[in-house]
Amino acid sequence: MDLIQLNKELSSLSAEDRLAYICQLFSDRLVFSTSLGQEDQVITFLIAKQKLPIEIFTLDTGRLYQESYDLLDRTIARYKIPVRVYFPDAAKVEAMVYEKGVNSFYESVENRKECCFIRKVEPLNRALQGAKVWITGLRAEQSENRHNLEFAEFDETRQLLKLNPLLDWSYEKMLQFISENNIPYNPLHDKGFPSIGCAPCTRAIEPGEDIRAGRWWWEASQKECGLHQEKIPANQQVN
Ligand code: ADX
Ligand code: SF4
Repeated sequence: MDLIQLNKELSSLSAEDRLAYICQLFSDRLVFSTSLGQEDQVITFLIAKQKLPIEIFTLDTGRLYQESYDLLDRTIARYKIPVRVYFPDAAKVEAMVYEKGVNSFYESVENRKECCFIRKVEPLNRALQGAKVWITGLRAEQSENRHNLEFAEFDETRQLLKLNPLLDWSYEKMLQFISENNIPYNPLHDKGFPSIGCAPCTRAIEPGEDIRAGRWWWEASQKECGLHQEKIPANQQVN
């Protein structure tokens, strides 16, 4: 099957069925990266509900909110599923902090991207090694860069299929689903934080502001940390 066909099939399924379907297509190493945000809490719920053979992991940058760590604990306890935690390479963090200070990310986009690379992208690449499918909580509505994503894409650099099962969900639909299913979520969401990353790089937003305005708020950049790269040709064979 090629990506065009796969995307056609996925588009008519529910998020729950998209996850189940991908598990039928691929038998080995499917992984889901959770940031513990609302989207990811929905996906964790759907994986646990269907007992799908998908490994769940999170990237602990060392700079997360205490509320995020608490939510990690609560989620593991609620769904009785393991969530693997990946840490950055200690020597690389030590060298960066020694050379540039603990808050170097505020000084330039270059410094910020270096920090994101060491604390997030490198551990992500390690977590994805040997995986055939990478599941994420990306939604098209989240930002302009995310508008033209597809349900399934091929990540050429990492040589794996990337699945975005909530791509077409609206913010309202997600909130309703969380409430209906009593899914645990980060209390910061109720304090003006629709999108939560590292503590020093996230702030609450004002009513009417863009939902990603609180991420790296001091930058005029595209506000991406490098976890998610561009997509590639739609006719790529997937299996
Ligand atoms: S980011 O690129 O701006 O940080 P965002 O917070 O919107 O990403 O999350 C988008 C998706 O990236 C999440 O659904 C999740 O799959 C992945 N992701 C982001 N941060 C993490 C993290 N700390 N650990 C694991 N996955 C993450
Ligand atoms: Fe570093 Fe901020 Fe990126 Fe977290 S979000 S990895 S603290 S620059």
